[in-house]
Amino acid sequence: MLYRLYQPEDFSPLYAIEEACFEPPLRFGRADMRRLVRGPGTAAWIAAQDGQMAGFAIVEWTREAGATIAYIQTLEVASNQRRQGVGAELLRRLEASAQSAGAHLIWLHVDAENFPAIRLYEAHGYRREGKEDHYYARSRPALLYAKSLEPADPRASTL
Ligand SMILES: CC(C)(COP(=O)(O)OP(=O)(O)OC[C@H]1O[C@@H](n2cnc3c(N)ncnc32)[C@H](O)[C@@H]1OP(=O)(O)O)[C@@H](O)C(=O)NCCC(=O)NCCS
Repeated sequence: MLYRLYQPEDFSPLYAIEEACFEPPLRFGRADMRRLVRGPGTAAWIAAQDGQMAGFAIVEWTREAGATIAYIQTLEVASNQRRQGVGAELLRRLEASAQSAGAHLIWLHVDAENFPAIRLYEAHGYRREGKEDHYYARSRPALLYAKSLEPADPRASTL
């Protein structure tokens, strides 16, 4: 599996994975997805094998009150590529990009019924910090998870 940063020609296969993974209202619209993959203030990672996209993930960071905070916008693996460690590696890449951007904290929303994703985040040290009722839709709550990040190694560049 090859892991690399997003390039403009990745948009169609990336959005096909988005459509396969999520129905509205959980699905990003095309315009929002284009904004996210372009940045600035984001890193979009692609997993690909034999020229086929296997998954992607996007992290966004913002500076608030003098501190940089990272937020995982999405993490998606094609159904035929799951349970092979792709999601875990994409998550590590997001964290490394967030660290390089100076973030000391990374957080996310996850559908309260998305057990595979919840297991993945918990296995990688994310702690549940709260719940937002009606976040995705009426009676569709989200759980909030967060993880502290170590300062980045100044010799590494993964933005
Ligand atoms: C969540 C998702 C990204 C996981 O990707 P993946 O490539 O299958 O994950 P990995 O193979 O790296 O799994 C890593 C760990 O996550 C947990 N996990 C992943 N899928 C799981 C499942 N179906 N059931 C239970 N645990 C699961 C396990 O702890 C697993 O480690 P293990 O395989 O050693 O047991 C994938 O299921 C997906 O794309 N789902 C649809 C999109 C989505 O819901 N994204 C999350 C948005 S918040």
